[in-house]
Amino acid sequence: MAKPKRRYVCQACGSVSQRWQGQCPDCAEWNTLVEDAPATVFSAKHDLSSGGRAIRFEPLDAPNEKLQRRTTGLAELDRALGGGLVPGSAILMGGDPGIGKSTLLMQAAGKIALSGGSVVYISGEEAAGQVRMRAERMGLAKAPVQLASATSVRDILTTLGGMEPPTLLVIDSIQTMHSDQIEGAPGTVSQVRGCAFELIRFAKESGTALVLVGHVTKDGNIAGPRVLEHMVDVVMSFEGERSHQYRILRSLKNRFGPVDEIGVFAMQGQGLEEVGNPSMLFLSGRENPVPGSAVFPAMEGTRPVLVEIQALIVRLQSGATPRRAVVGWDSGRLAMLLAVLEARCGLNFSSAEVYLNVAGGYRLSDPGADLAVAAALISALGDRALPSHAVWFGEVSLAGEVRPVAHSGIRQREAAKLGFHRAFGPPGGAQPEVDTRYAEIALLPNVVDRILSDA
Ligand code: TYD
Ligand code: MG
Repeated sequence: MAKPKRRYVCQACGSVSQRWQGQCPDCAEWNTLVEDAPATVFSAKHDLSSGGRAIRFEPLDAPNEKLQRRTTGLAELDRALGGGLVPGSAILMGGDPGIGKSTLLMQAAGKIALSGGSVVYISGEEAAGQVRMRAERMGLAKAPVQLASATSVRDILTTLGGMEPPTLLVIDSIQTMHSDQIEGAPGTVSQVRGCAFELIRFAKESGTALVLVGHVTKDGNIAGPRVLEHMVDVVMSFEGERSHQYRILRSLKNRFGPVDEIGVFAMQGQGLEEVGNPSMLFLSGRENPVPGSAVFPAMEGTRPVLVEIQALIVRLQSGATPRRAVVGWDSGRLAMLLAVLEARCGLNFSSAEVYLNVAGGYRLSDPGADLAVAAALISALGDRALPSHAVWFGEVSLAGEVRPVAHSGIRQREAAKLGFHRAFGPPGGAQPEVDTRYAEIALLPNVVDRILSDA
């Protein structure tokens, strides 16, 4: 018999190499290749005599039980899930260590248990005493959550098999689980995948909603669990700056609802507090208009959020290479916008340091932010404050045109609700029914004229 070939699996992205290398050829991570069990070779013959069974086909219009979602008791979590927990579904909850995943899930577990659901919380990272202390701090000591500290998937599933299946099963985290059926240490791709497979099968068969916690590596991808993204129904990411209070729960994939929905929380002394109206949150103390600050009505899924964009320009005396630093926005996009401002508007940033910051630790992904960023940059460069109580939105093309973005009406309604009654945006964006003075900006040089000429 041929000797099984060795294979090496990257623990960051799951790609397979035939030989060990210091750097993964696919994702360029260092020291992530680990020897893995050889790939299984399946027999090529498939018929009833070789152990196969015939499967049954069903029509698409077969009567189906309606999706019975269950609320988690946290409206922001329900919103991000697309309306609550779906029985039998598997949810992957990713996030940096320390961002608050265990806190959020213990809170949801407590609320569900207090409203009559049965919840099993398995912690593979912390002793039961530690988890209990956290629950106590959040005022959930009386919640009938069934808590255990365990890492063996066999033990967990044996226990669950001997009881009524719970409404919710939380596994914190999937990287600490191990199965004795699979070779390798906990946290390796084959272990993570194998353990998740067994747990997800249990969820599907029993109708238990399953949440797997997964840690994320520094490049922002769910480590190891990236290989789980296709196995689960919902992928959520819990984000935020550790130094800020605010946390945003995003759905990156959802088989039962829309993606890009967000839930907003604030980390407090007694756990996470829900933030129902996030717009005010990201606008820092804006009493007097200051140069370099522009307000952008962002869209997060179906929800508008007003955020403040701050720019700072520092002229350099020496010929040193100027810095460009961005927090909360894409640095490539900033470079593009600076190039457009130079080429189309005749502004000169080449000898200046440029700092861009999105207030409140918020991370913008909405392409409509271009015009607001441009306005902040121009305002900072000219040391002129932008008109007060105004919002800016629109996508900027390389030619310097301002292009329309989706949901113009929702953005302006939200702005008006918070007292921003002026809007600058692409042609055709005016909304007659909204109480807003709308100024059309067709080309980026128009912004420069508006801000830098004496109006
Ligand atoms: P945790 O949920 O343990 O993070 P994760 O599971 O994502 O690793 O949260 C850890 C942080 O949250 C920790 O730095 C302390 C902070 N925290 C609070 O500020 N208030 C609280 O009530 C709790 C429980 C935690
Ligand atoms: Mg944790």
